[in-house]
Order: sequence, then C-alpha cells, then structure tokens
Amino acid sequence: MRFDVAIIGGGAAGLLCAITAGRRGRRTLVIEHNDQVGRKILISGGGRCNFTNTNTTAENFVSKNPHFCRSALARYTPDDIIELVKRHRIEFYEKKLGQLFCRDSSRPFVEMLLTECRNAGVSIKTNCSVEHVEKDKSFRLQTNLGEFECESLVIATGGLSFPKIGATDLGYRIAKQFGLRIESTRPSLVALVFNRKQVFSKLAGVTIDAEVTAGGNSFRENILFTHRGLSGPAILQASNYWTQENEVMIDLIPDRSIEAELKIMRSSKKMLSTFLGSMLPERFVELFVLPKLRNKSLDQLSRIDIDIIANMMHKWSVGFRETEGWHKAEVTLGGVSTDELSSKTMEAIKVPGLYFIGEVIDVTGWLGGYNFQWAWSSGYAAGSSV
Ligand code: FDA
Repeated sequence: MRFDVAIIGGGAAGLLCAITAGRRGRRTLVIEHNDQVGRKILISGGGRCNFTNTNTTAENFVSKNPHFCRSALARYTPDDIIELVKRHRIEFYEKKLGQLFCRDSSRPFVEMLLTECRNAGVSIKTNCSVEHVEKDKSFRLQTNLGEFECESLVIATGGLSFPKIGATDLGYRIAKQFGLRIESTRPSLVALVFNRKQVFSKLAGVTIDAEVTAGGNSFRENILFTHRGLSGPAILQASNYWTQENEVMIDLIPDRSIEAELKIMRSSKKMLSTFLGSMLPERFVELFVLPKLRNKSLDQLSRIDIDIIANMMHKWSVGFRETEGWHKAEVTLGGVSTDELSSKTMEAIKVPGLYFIGEVIDVTGWLGGYNFQWAWSSGYAAGSSV
C-alpha cells in the first residue's frame, strides 16, 4: 500500500494529474469515494462536457491573486487537451465563443481519461473514503480500504457544489489541518434571488438578450426570469462578481440608445408599449413599465419621461439577497488561498509534498469551459512535480 503519489479525488484535475505523474514513472494512486470517477464530467455541459475554451486567458478567472493561474495555464493549454481528445478520436464542436463540447456525450471523454490512466500504470480505488491524514516523513492515509502511504499527497476533491454527486469539504479540512488559509467559499455560476418579493415571478421562463454588469465586469448574453429571481448565462457569469452589498446593473436593450431613438420619433403616434414591445417580450414590458407611461404615444412623452425610460431600459439596477445555493451552483468561489501555494507546482509552500489542484483552490473560471481548463492545467502542473 505504498505509492509515490496519492491523489484524493478522481475528478477532472485528479485524473489529469494522475496521468501526468504516471507517465513520469511515478507509482500513482487515485482515491475516489464515489463508485466511479468523473461523475461531474459526465453531467457537465448538459451531458456533453464543455471541456475547454479556446480563448482561455488569466482574465477569465476570479481569484484573490489574479496572476496565480498564469503559469499553469501557459504550460497546459487548450491545445494540449484538444490534442488528447483528437488522439482518442472523440468528436467535438465549438458551440459559441470558443466553447468546445463533446459532440455526443461526455462518457467517451471519461473513458479517454481512464484509458490514459491505465496506460500510465495508475491505480484507482473507488468507494474509498479517507478518514484521516497524517504526516511524518511521508503521508499516511487511513481509509475504509486500509492504510496508504505516499511521498506526495495531492488534494483534488473539488468544490462544494452539487453535493448529491459527491462534493465534500475534505480538501478544505485537510488544508486547515496543515495550517493553510482558506478564502471564504460561496456558490457561484448560479442563479440569483431578488432581495425583495418582486412581481416578476409571473415572468418565469421569459428570456432577454441583455448586458449584465457586476463588480465592473460586463457580460452580454441572455438573462432568464425564474420564480424567485434571475438566471441565464449572463447572470451566471455575473454571479462570480456579485456581492450582496452591490446592485447588478442590467442593460435590457444593449447596442441601441433608447433616448436617441425616442427623440427622433418625437412626432410619432405609436404607443410606447408597441415601440418597446418590438425589442422586448410584451409580457415583460407590461410588468416593467408603469401604465401611465406605457399607454402614452411617443409624441406625448416629455423630456423627463424619455430620461426615465432610457434609465429603466439601459440601467436597470437589481438587488439580490442570495444565490440559489450549492445544489444549483456549478462551482465554488473561494477556496485554498493561492498565497499558500506555488503557482508553478501547486505545492503548499509550508508543507512540502502536499499539493492542491482544481476547484478546491481559490481560482474560479467563467462559464464556458474555463473551469475544466483550470482543472487540466493545475492537474498537469502538480503531476509534473510530484
Ligand atoms: P471535481 O468535482 O471534478 O472532482 C472532485 C472529485 O473528488 C469528485 O470525483 C468527488 O467525488 C471526489 N471527492 C470529493 N470528496 C472526496 C472525499 N472526501 N474522498 C474521496 N473523493 C472525494 N466546467 C466547465 O469547464 N465546463 C462545463 O461544461 C461545466 N459544467 C458543469 C455542470 C455542472 C452541473 C457542474 C456542477 C459543474 C460544471 N462545471 C463545468 C464545473 C466543473 O465541473 C468543475 O469546475 C470541475 O469538475 C472541477 O474539477 P475538480 O477535479 O477540481 O473537481
């Protein structure tokens, strides 16, 4: 039961790390408490796994130290994972904005990682729960399947989202046990809940192409009304930057100036509701614009009316009280502090031989394949060093 390297967590980062270490001739063990590895990969991207983004840069990640991810991203790039996928003849396509998805399903992708593990001589123990970790000269892991000893220990336990498929806080507990700091965690890439009971629950299901700004970052994609708040890709992206204290700004009609258009159409007899209804869903206009404005014709609008309408359309300021929580979130914001880790190897500076990779670290990607790219890149960085 002695290994050079033990990796706790058989997800994206853990498997890529195992392949890299195994190829270097390191005796490598992956410990996974589920009955199979890669469950999150299987359900990701609606079952077709958005496995990378060809436009990946450090700017697509949120972290206390925005430079931390640079070195790892430069050493294992989207081209590297694409090369692996092509070698295994897995069909993929670009959905939009550099997002690469498997054509049919994520299953061949997980099989590819398992084949690579086998070829690299990696041992995988599923249904294996780690009960206790200690360190003297080497690391000792007490598990339900017995004791394992290893020179290098890699923590690849992921974040806290989707507990029903096996997320746990073990990675954070091990970090704390060894005196490493954790940046506070919260669900992210997640729908947000309005801070006041709003009339908008009647709009559940309605989508609008909008530009959403939070924390100085803007995202142009759809927003989707839910029963309790807003979702859709633009809101999920903004959730990485949202805080309870700051309102989110939404431009409901980006690329156009409602003020300029209303001024040009000042002599028109068209109703404001008809004018706005040509750009936005009618149900939304009915709920969003007060009848005393909505029922005016354009030639009846005063300068003040035009200012009010332009503000409503381009600067809708929305307060949210919370997220929809871990059961709905795609990722965890925060995690093991990057100050504690080498950005080249992911090794803990204070604890030689202990590594953290993937989502358990305080590095969170945007929606669109960036989180898997971080898992591959950080897994490769550690796998090259263990
Ligand atoms: P990951 O969660 O993949 O793996 C951690 C592993 O550790 C799991 O297998 C878990 O069971 C295991 N583990 C946890 N605790 C353990 C313990 N105590 N003992 C033993 N094993 C333990 N990203 C992206 O780029 N494109 C996408 O399409 C999607 N889609 C998506 C959909 C959904 C529904 C979710 C929830 C998330 C996504 N993501 C995504 C995010 C992406 O899945 C995520 O960032 C990566 O899987 C993180 O990789 P890790 O290896 O760090 O963790």
